[in-house]
Amino acid sequence: MTEITTAKRGQTLVIRFNRPEKMNALTRDMYAGLTTALNEAAGDFGVRSVVITSEGEHFTAGNDIKDFMSNPPTEESSDVARFLAALLEFPKPLIAAVKGNAVGVGTTMLLHCDIVVASPSANFSMPFTSLGLVPEAGSSKLFPELVGYQRAARIFMTGDSFDATEAKEMGLVESIAADAEGAALEIAEKIGNQPPQAIINTKALMKAGKHDAVAAVMKAEFQIFALALQSEEAAEAFMNFMSKRNK
Ligand code: COA
Repeated sequence: MTEITTAKRGQTLVIRFNRPEKMNALTRDMYAGLTTALNEAAGDFGVRSVVITSEGEHFTAGNDIKDFMSNPPTEESSDVARFLAALLEFPKPLIAAVKGNAVGVGTTMLLHCDIVVASPSANFSMPFTSLGLVPEAGSSKLFPELVGYQRAARIFMTGDSFDATEAKEMGLVESIAADAEGAALEIAEKIGNQPPQAIINTKALMKAGKHDAVAAVMKAEFQIFALALQSEEAAEAFMNFMSKRNK
């Protein structure tokens, strides 16, 4: 799998979206690659933390729309559902380095990360409703809890994007750095020097209060998302995207 690459940097596993020519839009194969990488990292004593980052100018343009149209993920066993489950269950520190566009799941996955470092170029958006879809990855719960109901409603319902400064003020991003990946790796290395079981236990405790509720919301979101994917509203939005690209 070359569109998701993994590399060890000391005790850190670096997972990289590597499809820059398509703005790192995520296909089923890429979700499968991400799931494998996370699950292997979870079981590997040599991996103390994971940094998720990207090749090129952007983090990711979210789900690959062509793939969505030809293979809508409607089953809990789909690659995207399996990735989201792996994200929710990942027991070790997960640090994201975000630059450029982080669209859809590119933003919602950050709600599961322990620390997010953004470059000043980062731009976040969750245009689910514009695509005839609904929020996913637990974001219908996690995002309003983070930023307040009304702000989340505006962002979800208008499709408005926001920049790194706003994301930091919201608490979606912990820090802004010109070299976001370098900064993320430094944090990962510091964490890697800590006693590993204490780190795993700390994450488990911090996440425990919400885990089951988030899992339940993700299940409900997935069912509605799967129906929405097959709706006329989504078909029209996807065709619009494709026709603009084919001109
Ligand atoms: N799925 C499939 N391909 C995508 C994609 C996606 N989600 N996002 C970008 N791409 C592809 C484009 O088709 C284009 O490829 P091409 O040159 O072979 O046509 C390439 O990536 C670059 O994207 P482009 O649209 O030309 O860049 P831009 O700077 O004009 O626009 C975006 C950037 C992010 C605003 C725009 O690409 C976009 O709206 N993408 C869809 C985002 C989205 O809705 N994701 C799903 C969320 S659930």
